[in-house]
Amino acid sequence: GEHKVSVLIKNGRIVTAVDDYRADIFINGSQVALIGKDLAIEADKRIDASGKLVIPGGVDPHTHLELPFGGTTTSDTFETGTRAAAYGGTTCIIDFAVQTRGTSTLKALDTWHAKAEGKTAIDYAFHMIVTDMPQERVGEMRSLADSGVTSYKLFMAYPGALLSDDGTIFRAMRKAGEDGTLVCMHAENGIVIDELVKIALAQRHVEPKYHALTRPTRLEAEGVHRALAIAEVARAPVYIVHLSCYDALHELRMAQARGVMAHAETCPQYLLLDVDRYDEPGFDGAKYVLTPPLREKWNHDELWGGLRSHALDVISTDHCPFCLKEQKELGRSDFSKIPNGGPGIESRMSLIYHYGVSTGHISLNRFVELTSTAPAKIFGLFPKKGTIAVGSDADIVIFDPAREETISAFNGRTHHMNIDYSAYEGFKVKGYTETVLSRGKVVIENGNYVGRAGDGAFVKRRAYGGQYANTHANMVRDVLAPRASLGSPGRRLP
Ligand code: URP
Ligand code: ZN
Ligand code: ZN
Repeated sequence: GEHKVSVLIKNGRIVTAVDDYRADIFINGSQVALIGKDLAIEADKRIDASGKLVIPGGVDPHTHLELPFGGTTTSDTFETGTRAAAYGGTTCIIDFAVQTRGTSTLKALDTWHAKAEGKTAIDYAFHMIVTDMPQERVGEMRSLADSGVTSYKLFMAYPGALLSDDGTIFRAMRKAGEDGTLVCMHAENGIVIDELVKIALAQRHVEPKYHALTRPTRLEAEGVHRALAIAEVARAPVYIVHLSCYDALHELRMAQARGVMAHAETCPQYLLLDVDRYDEPGFDGAKYVLTPPLREKWNHDELWGGLRSHALDVISTDHCPFCLKEQKELGRSDFSKIPNGGPGIESRMSLIYHYGVSTGHISLNRFVELTSTAPAKIFGLFPKKGTIAVGSDADIVIFDPAREETISAFNGRTHHMNIDYSAYEGFKVKGYTETVLSRGKVVIENGNYVGRAGDGAFVKRRAYGGQYANTHANMVRDVLAPRASLGSPGRRLP
């Protein structure tokens, strides 16, 4: 329930997407009440943040907890996954509910509410994975939005399971454009990928590395190109999930340059891990069987460049954990049966701080923007989430820029995810989450979990085209109206 404790955070360096200053923060109940210099106020709890960064809690808009997928279920529950997120400085996730093909998306939402309610350490919201959306049922999309689920994910991959045809994608985007909601796209040509998989298996190529060799960057770039073209014609915004490579980034930039309302995220695995991982001994390459796959290393610098230039808006995790034992092992003799996905919900903030900010790829403000503010804005959580301001939820991370850790599944400090490996085993980081407040309640204190399951609550999200969106709220939505792109470049119809 609501608690009315007050907290005073003293002498921290407050960093948001745009600010960087030293001040005290007074929290009354669940929200920030006052920010000022040398606040002389009595509070129930006082936290000394001298020498520490005080940043908005991370918002991770791409997680899969308790997801049935690939013949098994992701190993983190809403309880274990959100607790691990809190340890790592993330205070809000947007997880994916999944529609069962041919049934109501509203029913799917009930199912996901039942999984999460009363279980989480931090606040959570949902996207809806749409697997079919005939015209007769397209009204459900608005009902979902009214229930706080203002974004959907559609797949161009996984034929026979999650794939939507282009007509479904267009219908969903058109409706989203009208309602001011947002379609997220898994952009990869899954039909051609399946042909490549068949060829690989026919040649008895069964090892994990063939997961990468059967999903070339061109087929991601083609999916991105197609998703952006359909969104452009549907006059709708679109959000490309887990963009992994330069070829796809190039398509994104071309569309953005012609005015398409295109957002995109990448993930730590595409910035820090490369295709050589699939050559790890034995079956260890299976740890990195996630989709899109890891790419050649030269793509990393291109993606950092995309984050700097604002072509890419967000760094999410796509946390989708499957244990090596019994889960990844389902594909020991056939890479196509390895459940796709990897862990990361706990490691994002430190990895991006260390390998992004400390190496000079991105600024400290941009770090906050990419991991918190931008996802909060794009997905309708701002200014409740995503910043530190008077009236915002007191979702606050006290981050120690001097603490050094080696990320490992085998120490008790950096691994609380329910999975038997870390994708970043042995990665050294300087900069680690020390204390975390979730809606004003301390849930991590000096690296220890002091919260309980049920501290977190469902957050209804505002529509993308709502009050705080910065684009196109009043755009003409008639998909048949003349526009430049009906003709050759730049030519308008008479
Ligand atoms: O490998 C991945 N990413 N698994 C999760 C499902 C998805 O496509 O996001
Ligand atoms: Zn995906
Ligand atoms: Zn995903």
